[in-house]
Amino acid sequence: MWPYPKIVAHRGGGTLAPENTVAGLRAGLAYGFHAVEFDVMLSRDGIGMVMHDADFGRTVAGRGSVPETDAVDLAAMDAGAWFGQQFNDEPVPYYTQFIDYCKAQRIWMNVEIKPADGFEAETGRWVARVTRDSYAAEIAAGDPAAMPLLSSFSFDALAAARDVAPDLPRGYLLDRVPGDWQAQARELGAVAIHTNHQHLTLELTRAIKAAGYGLFCYTVNEPERGREILSWGVDGFCTDRIDLIGPGFA
Ligand code: G3P
Ligand code: MG
Repeated sequence: MWPYPKIVAHRGGGTLAPENTVAGLRAGLAYGFHAVEFDVMLSRDGIGMVMHDADFGRTVAGRGSVPETDAVDLAAMDAGAWFGQQFNDEPVPYYTQFIDYCKAQRIWMNVEIKPADGFEAETGRWVARVTRDSYAAEIAAGDPAAMPLLSSFSFDALAAARDVAPDLPRGYLLDRVPGDWQAQARELGAVAIHTNHQHLTLELTRAIKAAGYGLFCYTVNEPERGREILSWGVDGFCTDRIDLIGPGFA
């Protein structure tokens, strides 16, 4: 059973707004999305910031990196200008800002723990602690649909998250699903496998579902492909094309 939304806006508002910004969340809402995936990385002073790339140069200008920069300085950076003038001065968000916004707007979160190299366990611990404390009532109520889903490509980050917040659901992100996926997922206590739809087959879908795991794909931007993998039994996916693939897509 997949208690979470089926269609999720990728990196905030997909390609309709600068990724991983509050403007992205707003764009998602404008298209009817109450489900979002985004990435969290630790600043130099150990604060979770919503950023995909460790290095500057793509979504924020200049040289440098997230793990070498304090949160207050990251939050003063412009993460919108690269995308379009109307997004000038859109800041790099604190993770806690995203939590507040998503709670207020009733947006379900798939929080991707995105550690900079060498900060895997630390990032997993920080994200799990802050999420656990922010969703204490939902966790106590035991309703998985009301809880965020943590995910990561990093086994160590997810293992650290498991130790800090065992009751928060975890999805194990795998670009290509390896032969020993089930042993790893079991060790992590994962409820779901999150994988690149480009490498997914019907056979693999069946194996993952038969083993009792949720199955979530990234990043599906073609409606035809979305319909295909859903017909295979995939539970949900995230998309950049929130304009083409709506929350009620079937
Ligand atoms: O969480 C799924 C997806 O976001 C993983 O890839 O690089 O977009 O974070 P990426
Ligand atoms: Mg991501």
